[in-house]
Formats: sequence, C-alpha cells, structure tokens
Amino acid sequence: EKGGYDHFMLKEIYEQPRAIKDTYRGRLLAEQGLVKMSGIEQNMEKFLNANRIIIVACGTSWHAGLVAEYIFEDLARIPVEVEYASEFRYRNPVITDKDILIAISQSGETADTLAAIKLAKERGAFVFGVCNVVGSSIARETDAGAYTHAGPEIGVASTKAFTTQITVLTLMALRLAKAKGVFSETKYREHLTELATIPSKVEIALQSNPLIEIIADVYKDSTNCLYLGRGYNFPVALEGALKLKEISYIHAEGYPAAEMKHGPIALIDEHMPVFVIATKKGHYEKVVSNIQEIKSRKGKIIAIVTEGDEQVRDLADHVIEVPETLESLTPLLTTIPLQLISYHIAVMRGCNVDQPRNLAKSVTVE
Ligand code: M6R
Repeated sequence: EKGGYDHFMLKEIYEQPRAIKDTYRGRLLAEQGLVKMSGIEQNMEKFLNANRIIIVACGTSWHAGLVAEYIFEDLARIPVEVEYASEFRYRNPVITDKDILIAISQSGETADTLAAIKLAKERGAFVFGVCNVVGSSIARETDAGAYTHAGPEIGVASTKAFTTQITVLTLMALRLAKAKGVFSETKYREHLTELATIPSKVEIALQSNPLIEIIADVYKDSTNCLYLGRGYNFPVALEGALKLKEISYIHAEGYPAAEMKHGPIALIDEHMPVFVIATKKGHYEKVVSNIQEIKSRKGKIIAIVTEGDEQVRDLADHVIEVPETLESLTPLLTTIPLQLISYHIAVMRGCNVDQPRNLAKSVTVE
C-alpha cells in the first residue's frame, strides 16, 4: 500500500506532480485561456463585491492560506486576512455579509476550523471551503467550495495537501483576477501556461533527493534550525520549520528573512543550520544580503536556489536547485526540498515518520 516506498510520507511527496495535475484537471484550460471553477462561477457576484477575504485554517493549511494571501492580493487585488481558526473563533471578530471566509482543511474535520466557519456563517459571511476529503464536515458546512484532488493523505505530516491547496487557491485568484480585469491578457495567459508546467518542474525538483539525503546526514544531529524566506516564500519557510519539528523533533523556527536583524540573528553561530529560500525572483538581492549576514556570523547555510544560480552558490554551504518559474508559483517548487530534508532527517534519527509522537492526522478536538 506504500507503493514500494518506505513511508507514506515519501510516497505522498512523490505523488505531488500527479496530485497537482489532478487538482487542476478540468479547471485549468491553458490553451483556451480559461479557468473553470463552478464554486466561483456560481458565486461570482459575491466574490466581486466582497470587501475582503478572510482565510481560516490550522497548521500546514494555515501556511497555504498565507501563500494565498500573497497570491490573492498580488494577482487579484483583493484584500486578504489570514487567521488561525483557533484564534479567530475566540476573539469576537468583526465580520459582515460583505466578507468571504475561505476555510482550508485537508481532512475537513479540524474542530477549530469547523467552529470558525459556524461563527462566520452566523454573522452573515459567505463561506467557501478548500478541502481534500470529499463529504467531510467542513465540505458539508460551507456554502460552496473547491476540492483539492490530492488523494488520501495518510502521513501525519501534510505534504501533497499543501501543494494542492496552493494549486486550488492559485486557480481561484487567477479566475478572480480575470473577472476583475486587473490582469493583462498576456500576464494571465502566462500564468495559466506556467501553472501547467508545474507538475514536470516538481518532478525535476524531486531529482535532488540523493543530494538532499547527503545534506540531511550533515545536519541530522542539530538541536535547532532556522528557516528563512521572503514574500511568497516566507510561508514556505514556516512550513519547512513545521515539517522538521513535527517529524524529527528538532526545534525549528521559520522567519521572514528581513526579521532576522530584529532578534533571531542573535541565535546564529557555527552550530546553527539556516535554510534559506533564495530563488531568483522575489527580493533575490535582499535575500543574498541576508545570507551574507548569516555567513559572517558563521551560520551554516543551506540555500534553495533557482537552477543555474551562481551568486548564492559562492556563499552557501549547500545549494539545492529548483527550476525557474513565475514568482507566485515558486512555493510549489521550493517546498519540495524542505519536505525531503525533514523526511530524511527524521528517518536518520529513527523517528516514526508517518505517525509522529503526540500527533493525530486530524485534530477533531479543540
Ligand atoms: O486537516 P487540516 O488541514 O485541517 O489539518 C490542519 C493541521 O492539523 C495540519 O495541517 C497539521 O498541522 C499537519 N500535521 C502538518 O503537517
């Protein structure tokens, strides 16, 4: 049932090219320049008249929500707030019937996310679900939605759910950008065509696995790690840190790279591995200077870079390449090496990768 893989997590990491394709199949018609999503079409007026979108989720799904904040604001020019479902539901939030709540949940059973949906509905918001499990409680409770077609995710550490959530949210943002007319036809078409190349680019990113295993061996005994990214890749840094924490039990923190100088830089010494997402688009030069700051404090740098990068290669202790893509789509690629590094470190430490201690696949209690 693990399809020849040692663990479900590894199988699910490798399923991502297919899972992403299954998620956009029938929705992304790149050649015709169309995005078709019935949940959006049927509620287009609501989306176009919304004052803002509030995204609620937990854990990895919350990280997908943070990526979506960048996507929706950048591409569709709709204001977005992203909230932990558990905080949102208990802070008497200001919600009106001009708000749209998007709830993201792989399992569709997360208690806090479900409770946040109920609260938003009571206060008149329109609620849209992005779930993986068909017929789940959240899928049933929402007014409309779009499923991710990741297939069953068994490993407690979420992998393909994350990339397929980002795929659905990207399609939504593109559809809305088109409807709002905020995107030139050329840019719109470019995004559609590029999204269709992502599965094969994920495939290429997965080819770094042997190198990542070697890097994992160097850092497997670390007690702390930092993950840094900016813009679209700041949430990817958070997700990389969460993955490492939950399956290898190594303390890790994700930060926006520019926040380093406001505190975390004090942690850096020769024992601190720092994973930096430094792809060519998206504040590249700024990230390079962040890398220089880490290097001058003797931190160990493992950088995720764009294919062919030379500048970071000269500075970093290790580089892992991903193919080039549009900035808004980079999280779909940069997250792959971070999933693999956590996987290998956890295996090397003898951890139960698929069922880490103290964790359940879905958190149905608050
Ligand atoms: O099923 P959900 O997407 O609602 O689950 C949310 C979180 O519990 C989940 O993403 C959790 O953080 C994962 N174990 C992370 O890998």
